[in-house]
Amino acid sequence: MGILRLCSGAVGETLIAADRLAKTFRQGFWMRRVEAVRGVSFTVERGDIFGFLGPNGAGKTTTIKMLTGLIAPTGGTATIFGHPVPSTRALGRLGFMPENPYVYPFLTPTEFVEMCGRLCGLTAASARARTRQVLDQVGIAYASDRQVRRLSKGMLQRTGLAAALVGDPELLVLDEPMSGLDPVGRKDVRDLIFAERAAGRTIFFSTHILSDVETLCDRVTILRRGEVVVSGVLRDLLRREVKRTDVTLDAVSPALEAELEGAGHAVRSAGGRRIVEIEGDERVGEVLAAALAAGSRVVEVTPRHETLEDVFVREAIEGDPAKA
Ligand SMILES: Nc1ncnc2c1ncn2[C@@H]1O[C@H](COP(=O)(O)OP(=O)(O)OP(=O)(O)O)[C@@H](O)[C@H]1O
Ligand SMILES: [Mg+2]
Repeated sequence: MGILRLCSGAVGETLIAADRLAKTFRQGFWMRRVEAVRGVSFTVERGDIFGFLGPNGAGKTTTIKMLTGLIAPTGGTATIFGHPVPSTRALGRLGFMPENPYVYPFLTPTEFVEMCGRLCGLTAASARARTRQVLDQVGIAYASDRQVRRLSKGMLQRTGLAAALVGDPELLVLDEPMSGLDPVGRKDVRDLIFAERAAGRTIFFSTHILSDVETLCDRVTILRRGEVVVSGVLRDLLRREVKRTDVTLDAVSPALEAELEGAGHAVRSAGGRRIVEIEGDERVGEVLAAALAAGSRVVEVTPRHETLEDVFVREAIEGDPAKA
Protein backbone atom coordinates (compact mmCIF):
# COMPACT_ATOMS: atom_id res chain seq x y z
CA MET A 1 0.00 0.00 0.00
CA GLY A 2 2.88 2.29 0.92
CA ILE A 3 4.52 1.85 -2.46
CA LEU A 4 1.24 2.57 -4.25
CA ARG A 5 0.88 5.72 -2.24
CA LEU A 6 4.48 6.69 -2.98
CA CYS A 7 4.07 6.23 -6.70
CA SER A 8 0.87 8.22 -6.90
CA GLY A 9 2.64 11.63 -6.83
CA ALA A 10 3.49 13.47 -10.02
CA VAL A 11 7.12 13.61 -11.12
CA GLY A 12 8.16 17.25 -11.35
CA GLU A 13 6.00 18.16 -8.35
CA THR A 14 7.73 20.51 -5.89
CA LEU A 15 7.85 18.87 -2.46
CA ILE A 16 9.92 21.48 -0.61
CA ALA A 17 10.05 25.15 -1.54
CA ALA A 18 12.04 27.58 0.60
CA ASP A 19 11.65 31.22 -0.33
CA ARG A 20 14.06 33.70 1.27
CA LEU A 21 13.91 31.71 4.50
CA ALA A 22 15.67 33.46 7.37
CA LYS A 23 16.38 32.88 11.05
CA THR A 24 17.97 35.32 13.45
CA PHE A 25 18.57 34.03 16.95
CA ARG A 26 18.84 36.37 19.93
CA GLN A 27 21.54 35.26 22.31
CA GLY A 28 22.73 36.09 25.80
CA PHE A 29 21.91 38.89 28.20
CA TRP A 30 22.35 41.60 25.54
CA MET A 31 20.19 39.64 23.05
CA ARG A 32 23.02 39.66 20.52
CA ARG A 33 21.78 38.83 17.00
CA VAL A 34 23.01 35.63 15.35
CA GLU A 35 21.94 35.56 11.72
CA ALA A 36 22.03 31.80 11.20
CA VAL A 37 20.04 31.73 7.92
CA ARG A 38 19.88 34.79 5.68
CA GLY A 39 17.36 34.50 2.87
CA VAL A 40 17.77 30.92 1.65
CA SER A 41 15.75 29.80 -1.40
CA PHE A 42 15.70 26.37 -3.08
CA THR A 43 13.24 23.76 -4.28
CA VAL A 44 13.24 19.98 -3.98
CA GLU A 45 11.29 18.12 -6.65
CA ARG A 46 9.64 14.72 -6.27
CA GLY A 47 12.14 11.93 -6.96
CA ASP A 48 15.23 14.07 -6.20
CA ILE A 49 18.14 13.02 -4.07
CA PHE A 50 19.02 16.50 -2.87
CA GLY A 51 22.28 17.31 -1.04
CA PHE A 52 22.30 20.25 1.37
CA LEU A 53 25.90 21.25 2.02
CA GLY A 54 27.95 23.84 3.81
CA PRO A 55 30.76 24.15 6.34
CA ASN A 56 30.12 23.90 10.10
CA GLY A 57 27.77 26.64 11.23
CA ALA A 58 26.54 27.44 7.69
CA GLY A 59 22.88 27.12 8.71
CA LYS A 60 21.92 23.65 7.46
CA THR A 61 20.41 22.33 10.68
CA THR A 62 18.67 25.63 11.35
CA THR A 63 17.06 25.49 7.89
CA ILE A 64 16.01 21.86 8.42
CA LYS A 65 14.53 22.75 11.81
CA MET A 66 12.46 25.49 10.17
CA LEU A 67 11.26 23.10 7.45
CA THR A 68 10.23 20.51 10.00
CA GLY A 69 8.50 23.06 12.22
CA LEU A 70 10.86 22.72 15.20
CA ILE A 71 11.65 26.44 15.12
CA ALA A 72 9.83 29.33 13.48
CA PRO A 73 11.46 31.40 10.70
CA THR A 74 12.06 35.08 11.38
CA GLY A 75 11.80 35.84 7.66
CA GLY A 76 10.68 34.31 4.38
CA THR A 77 8.39 31.35 3.82
CA ALA A 78 8.59 27.64 3.11
CA THR A 79 6.14 25.01 1.96
CA ILE A 80 6.24 21.23 2.17
CA PHE A 81 3.85 19.34 -0.13
CA GLY A 82 2.42 22.79 -0.87
CA HIS A 83 1.48 23.43 2.80
CA PRO A 84 3.10 26.42 4.52
CA VAL A 85 5.34 25.29 7.41
CA PRO A 86 4.71 24.40 10.15
CA SER A 87 2.13 21.94 8.87
CA THR A 88 1.02 18.80 10.66
CA ARG A 89 -0.47 17.52 7.37
CA ALA A 90 2.93 17.81 5.69
CA LEU A 91 4.70 16.25 8.69
CA GLY A 92 2.51 13.15 8.34
CA ARG A 93 4.07 12.54 4.93
CA LEU A 94 7.73 13.01 5.82
CA GLY A 95 10.27 11.01 7.78
CA PHE A 96 12.81 13.09 9.69
CA MET A 97 16.13 12.13 11.16
CA PRO A 98 17.55 14.94 13.33
CA GLU A 99 21.26 15.73 13.57
CA ASN A 100 21.60 14.01 16.95
CA PRO A 101 18.72 11.55 17.20
CA TYR A 102 17.52 11.62 20.79
CA VAL A 103 16.32 8.23 21.83
CA TYR A 104 15.19 7.48 25.39
CA PRO A 105 18.18 5.50 26.73
CA PHE A 106 16.21 2.72 28.41
CA LEU A 107 14.23 1.78 25.29
CA THR A 108 15.44 -0.79 22.80
CA PRO A 109 15.59 0.08 19.07
CA THR A 110 12.55 -2.16 18.58
CA GLU A 111 10.54 -0.32 21.24
CA PHE A 112 11.62 3.11 20.02
CA VAL A 113 10.99 2.50 16.33
CA GLU A 114 7.67 0.78 17.05
CA MET A 115 6.62 3.80 19.11
CA CYS A 116 7.53 6.07 16.17
CA GLY A 117 5.46 3.81 13.90
CA ARG A 118 2.45 4.14 16.21
CA LEU A 119 2.94 7.94 16.25
CA CYS A 120 2.84 7.82 12.44
CA GLY A 121 -0.59 6.20 12.69
CA LEU A 122 0.31 2.54 12.10
CA THR A 123 -1.70 -0.14 13.90
CA ALA A 124 0.15 -2.11 16.60
CA ALA A 125 0.53 -5.12 14.31
CA SER A 126 1.76 -3.17 11.29
CA ALA A 127 4.12 -1.05 13.47
CA ARG A 128 5.63 -4.29 14.77
CA ALA A 129 6.05 -5.79 11.30
CA ARG A 130 7.37 -2.59 9.74
CA THR A 131 9.84 -2.09 12.65
CA ARG A 132 11.32 -5.53 12.06
CA GLN A 133 11.64 -4.68 8.36
CA VAL A 134 13.34 -1.29 8.80
CA LEU A 135 15.70 -2.42 11.58
CA ASP A 136 16.83 -5.17 9.25
CA GLN A 137 17.16 -2.67 6.39
CA VAL A 138 19.43 -0.34 8.40
CA GLY A 139 21.52 -3.29 9.62
CA ILE A 140 20.86 -3.36 13.36
CA ALA A 141 18.37 -6.21 13.62
CA TYR A 142 21.06 -8.06 15.60
CA ALA A 143 20.99 -5.35 18.31
CA SER A 144 17.28 -4.62 18.22
CA ASP A 145 16.68 -5.77 21.80
CA ARG A 146 19.67 -4.00 23.38
CA GLN A 147 18.94 -0.84 25.38
CA VAL A 148 19.79 2.30 23.44
CA ARG A 149 22.24 3.47 26.14
CA ARG A 150 24.36 0.42 25.28
CA LEU A 151 24.51 1.19 21.55
CA SER A 152 27.48 2.73 19.75
CA LYS A 153 27.15 6.12 17.99
CA GLY A 154 26.78 4.47 14.59
CA MET A 155 24.14 2.06 15.89
CA LEU A 156 22.22 4.99 17.35
CA GLN A 157 22.44 6.75 14.01
CA ARG A 158 20.99 3.67 12.29
CA THR A 159 18.17 3.56 14.87
CA GLY A 160 17.36 7.19 13.99
CA LEU A 161 17.28 6.28 10.33
CA ALA A 162 14.93 3.36 11.01
CA ALA A 163 12.64 5.71 12.93
CA ALA A 164 12.54 8.07 9.92
CA LEU A 165 11.61 5.18 7.61
CA VAL A 166 9.06 3.35 9.72
CA GLY A 167 6.04 5.46 8.71
CA ASP A 168 6.66 4.77 4.99
CA PRO A 169 7.06 8.50 4.21
CA GLU A 170 7.08 10.05 0.73
CA LEU A 171 9.86 12.44 1.70
CA LEU A 172 12.91 11.73 3.86
CA VAL A 173 14.65 14.67 5.54
CA LEU A 174 17.95 13.51 6.99
CA ASP A 175 20.33 15.79 8.88
CA GLU A 176 23.83 14.27 8.53
CA PRO A 177 22.76 10.65 8.02
CA MET A 178 26.36 9.47 7.48
CA SER A 179 27.87 11.08 10.57
CA GLY A 180 29.33 8.59 13.04
CA LEU A 181 29.30 5.74 10.53
CA ASP A 182 32.31 3.67 9.49
CA PRO A 183 33.07 3.24 5.74
CA VAL A 184 30.86 0.14 5.52
CA GLY A 185 28.09 1.97 7.35
CA ARG A 186 28.37 4.91 4.96
CA LYS A 187 28.11 2.59 2.01
CA ASP A 188 25.05 0.94 3.61
CA VAL A 189 23.39 4.35 3.96
CA ARG A 190 24.28 5.27 0.36
CA ASP A 191 22.75 2.00 -0.85
CA LEU A 192 19.72 2.60 1.33
CA ILE A 193 19.20 6.10 -0.09
CA PHE A 194 19.36 4.73 -3.64
CA ALA A 195 16.97 1.91 -2.76
CA GLU A 196 14.53 4.32 -1.13
CA ARG A 197 14.56 6.58 -4.17
CA ALA A 198 13.99 3.55 -6.41
CA ALA A 199 10.98 2.76 -4.19
CA GLY A 200 9.61 6.22 -4.99
CA ARG A 201 10.81 8.34 -2.09
CA THR A 202 12.36 11.79 -2.34
CA ILE A 203 15.44 12.35 -0.17
CA PHE A 204 16.73 15.66 1.18
CA PHE A 205 19.86 15.31 3.29
CA SER A 206 22.64 17.42 4.72
CA THR A 207 26.20 16.20 4.91
CA HIS A 208 29.87 17.16 4.90
CA ILE A 209 30.93 14.03 3.04
CA LEU A 210 31.36 15.39 -0.46
CA SER A 211 32.31 12.12 -2.14
CA ASP A 212 28.98 10.67 -0.98
CA VAL A 213 27.13 13.64 -2.45
CA GLU A 214 28.96 13.23 -5.72
CA THR A 215 27.89 9.62 -6.07
CA LEU A 216 24.35 10.12 -4.73
CA CYS A 217 22.83 13.48 -5.49
CA ASP A 218 20.95 14.85 -8.48
CA ARG A 219 20.88 18.35 -7.10
CA VAL A 220 22.80 20.27 -4.46
CA THR A 221 22.68 23.54 -2.61
CA ILE A 222 25.78 24.82 -0.81
CA LEU A 223 25.34 27.30 2.04
CA ARG A 224 27.95 29.66 3.40
CA ARG A 225 27.25 31.75 6.49
CA GLY A 226 23.51 31.37 6.09
CA GLU A 227 23.38 32.15 2.36
CA VAL A 228 23.18 30.00 -0.75
CA VAL A 229 26.42 30.22 -2.72
CA VAL A 230 25.88 27.36 -5.18
CA SER A 231 22.68 25.65 -6.25
CA GLY A 232 21.75 23.43 -9.14
CA VAL A 233 21.98 20.12 -10.93
CA LEU A 234 25.20 18.44 -9.82
CA ARG A 235 26.41 17.37 -13.26
CA ASP A 236 25.99 20.96 -14.53
CA LEU A 237 27.92 22.38 -11.56
CA LEU A 238 30.97 20.19 -12.09
CA ARG A 239 33.01 21.43 -15.01
CA ARG A 240 33.58 18.43 -17.18
CA GLU A 241 36.77 19.60 -18.91
CA VAL A 242 39.95 17.90 -17.78
CA LYS A 243 41.67 20.03 -15.13
CA ARG A 244 44.83 17.99 -14.97
CA THR A 245 46.22 14.72 -16.29
CA ASP A 246 48.38 12.47 -14.11
CA VAL A 247 50.82 10.22 -15.94
CA THR A 248 52.18 7.51 -13.63
CA LEU A 249 55.59 6.10 -14.56
CA ASP A 250 57.50 3.23 -12.93
CA ALA A 251 60.66 5.35 -12.70
CA VAL A 252 62.01 8.68 -13.88
CA SER A 253 65.71 9.19 -14.58
CA PRO A 254 67.28 12.45 -13.35
CA ALA A 255 67.65 13.58 -17.00
CA LEU A 256 63.96 12.92 -17.75
CA GLU A 257 62.89 14.67 -14.52
CA ALA A 258 64.91 17.74 -15.47
CA GLU A 259 63.40 17.68 -18.98
CA LEU A 260 59.80 17.38 -17.68
CA GLU A 261 60.26 20.08 -15.05
CA GLY A 262 61.94 22.28 -17.62
CA ALA A 263 58.78 21.91 -19.74
CA GLY A 264 56.64 23.09 -16.80
CA HIS A 265 55.30 19.74 -15.48
CA ALA A 266 55.49 18.82 -11.78
CA VAL A 267 56.91 15.40 -10.91
CA ARG A 268 56.06 13.82 -7.55
CA SER A 269 56.44 10.45 -5.86
CA ALA A 270 53.55 8.29 -4.64
CA GLY A 271 53.38 4.60 -3.72
CA GLY A 272 56.89 3.92 -5.02
CA ARG A 273 56.05 5.37 -8.43
CA ARG A 274 56.55 8.77 -10.06
CA ILE A 275 53.59 10.88 -11.17
CA VAL A 276 53.90 13.62 -13.77
CA GLU A 277 51.18 16.26 -13.39
CA ILE A 278 50.19 17.90 -16.65
CA GLU A 279 47.90 20.90 -16.73
CA GLY A 280 44.80 20.09 -18.84
CA ASP A 281 45.17 17.25 -21.35
CA GLU A 282 46.76 18.82 -24.41
CA ARG A 283 50.39 18.02 -23.70
CA VAL A 284 49.94 14.39 -22.64
CA GLY A 285 51.31 13.02 -25.95
CA GLU A 286 54.53 15.00 -25.61
CA VAL A 287 55.11 13.74 -22.03
CA LEU A 288 54.41 10.13 -23.02
CA ALA A 289 56.84 10.38 -25.95
CA ALA A 290 59.59 11.80 -23.70
CA ALA A 291 58.99 9.11 -21.05
CA LEU A 292 59.06 6.24 -23.55
CA ALA A 293 62.16 7.63 -25.25
CA ALA A 294 63.89 7.72 -21.83
CA GLY A 295 62.98 4.06 -21.18
CA SER A 296 60.28 4.64 -18.49
CA ARG A 297 57.28 2.33 -18.35
CA VAL A 298 53.87 4.05 -18.41
CA VAL A 299 51.69 2.57 -15.63
CA GLU A 300 48.60 4.78 -15.85
CA VAL A 301 47.22 7.92 -17.52
CA THR A 302 44.46 9.52 -15.44
CA PRO A 303 42.46 12.60 -16.47
CA ARG A 304 41.29 14.61 -13.41
CA HIS A 305 37.97 16.46 -13.60
CA GLU A 306 36.72 19.07 -11.20
CA THR A 307 35.23 17.43 -8.11
CA LEU A 308 32.55 18.66 -5.77
CA GLU A 309 35.31 19.22 -3.23
CA ASP A 310 36.92 21.71 -5.66
CA VAL A 311 33.56 23.55 -6.00
CA PHE A 312 33.00 23.44 -2.24
CA VAL A 313 36.44 24.80 -1.40
CA ARG A 314 36.22 27.50 -4.10
CA GLU A 315 32.70 28.70 -3.25
CA ALA A 316 32.14 27.91 0.41
CA ILE A 317 35.61 28.36 1.87
CA GLU A 318 37.89 30.44 -0.35
CA GLY A 319 34.93 32.57 -1.48
CA ASP A 320 34.22 33.53 2.13
CA PRO A 321 35.23 37.19 2.50
CA ALA A 322 35.77 36.61 6.24
CA LYS A 323 38.44 34.01 5.44
CA ALA A 324 40.03 35.69 2.43
N1 LIG B 1 19.53 28.17 19.32
C1 LIG B 1 20.51 28.91 18.84
N2 LIG B 1 20.82 30.10 19.40
C2 LIG B 1 21.81 30.88 18.91
N3 LIG B 1 22.54 30.56 17.81
C3 LIG B 1 22.27 29.39 17.22
C4 LIG B 1 21.26 28.51 17.69
N4 LIG B 1 21.21 27.42 16.87
C5 LIG B 1 22.16 27.63 15.94
N5 LIG B 1 22.80 28.80 16.15
C6 LIG B 1 23.88 29.37 15.31
O1 LIG B 1 23.43 29.36 13.98
C7 LIG B 1 24.52 29.10 13.08
C8 LIG B 1 24.13 27.95 12.19
O2 LIG B 1 24.06 26.76 12.93
P1 LIG B 1 23.58 25.37 12.31
O3 LIG B 1 23.50 24.40 13.44
O4 LIG B 1 22.36 25.61 11.52
O5 LIG B 1 24.79 25.03 11.34
P2 LIG B 1 25.07 23.73 10.46
O6 LIG B 1 25.26 24.19 9.06
O7 LIG B 1 24.04 22.70 10.73
O8 LIG B 1 26.49 23.27 11.04
P3 LIG B 1 27.10 21.78 11.26
O9 LIG B 1 27.66 21.40 9.94
O10 LIG B 1 28.19 22.01 12.26
O11 LIG B 1 26.02 20.88 11.74
C9 LIG B 1 25.73 28.85 13.97
O12 LIG B 1 26.47 30.04 14.06
C10 LIG B 1 25.12 28.52 15.32
O13 LIG B 1 25.98 28.87 16.37
MG1 LIG C 1 24.09 20.79 11.49
